[in-house]
Amino acid sequence: MAKSMFEAVAVIGAGTMGNGIAQTFATYGAKVLLVDLSEDALKKGVLAIEGSLARVVKKGVITDADAKATLARITTNSKLEAITNVPLVVEAVSERPDVKAKVFSQLDRQCPPATILATNTSSISITQIAASTKRADRVIGMHFMNPVPVMKLVEVIRGQETSDETTAKIIAASESIEKVPVAANDFPGFVSNRVLMPMINEAIFCLMEGVATKEGIDTVMKLGMAHPMGPLALADLIGLDVCLDILEVLHQGLGDDKYRPCPLLRRYVAAGNLGKKSGKGFYDYSKA
Ligand code: 3HC
Repeated sequence: MAKSMFEAVAVIGAGTMGNGIAQTFATYGAKVLLVDLSEDALKKGVLAIEGSLARVVKKGVITDADAKATLARITTNSKLEAITNVPLVVEAVSERPDVKAKVFSQLDRQCPPATILATNTSSISITQIAASTKRADRVIGMHFMNPVPVMKLVEVIRGQETSDETTAKIIAASESIEKVPVAANDFPGFVSNRVLMPMINEAIFCLMEGVATKEGIDTVMKLGMAHPMGPLALADLIGLDVCLDILEVLHQGLGDDKYRPCPLLRRYVAAGNLGKKSGKGFYDYSKA
């Protein structure tokens, strides 16, 4: 098994992306400190990691002992102050610029100068996040895909001031955990969400206009275009609130109405139907 280039990593945010990132680094031998202000989120995050590792054990990819050793490498803490001496921090807190700015400014004050501060943001400007620190050259986007343990891609996004050295390190670190990094520049939605979200949005317009049923739309894309899952099911997996936030960033940041979020997406989010995580989105997960 390959070994993580960074032997110790702190991951902030124990939600879907954060716990997947923590699991992935720990799988490749890194000691991981998983931080979330909510004890409840930490408990749920660790449960999710246990469940995900159990799937991999069941497949025979790793042994039960490997899974236990991976779990043992992950410690949790509910205070940001607990992050002191790690070479890499990956932030995966909620997609709110004010929250990210606060976290990065505190990390900048308490972490050693050499620590790289990476963000898993799906669309917030890396340059803007870096501006809340005094180390913009060591701030970078490390955008993992959901589900993190399965998806090979890491989009590596350089902010305006990100150095070549930081970029090279994060590319090498991604390869060391057997991901495939792709470098991108700091524009709204980067590459992944700039291409993905208009497709999801258009699928929601199709549903709203009655072009086909939700199952019909998803089947067209699965069987017609060989996508592993249809765009509506994928939106449920990502989170409809996350999709809406990203579309708003694209719409505002690029100033083009082709990115306007579909009113039906707004209605689902307003109703609290956020997809898999809330038990209901375009599909019903309450019995799963
Ligand atoms: N942990 C560990 N392993 C997992 C897992 C998890 N959470 N979820 C799935 N797996 C593994 C399974 O064990 C299985 O392994 P195998 O290939 O060795 O048998 C494999 O993944 C496939 O899983 P399943 O057989 O259960 O189910 P599917 O074949 O339907 O695959 C899927 C599930 C991997 C989610 C697939 O449907 C898929 O690739 N969907 C598209 C996902 C995608 O597009 N993600 C990107 C979203 S965009 C994003 O994240 C960016 C953000 O900014 C919005």
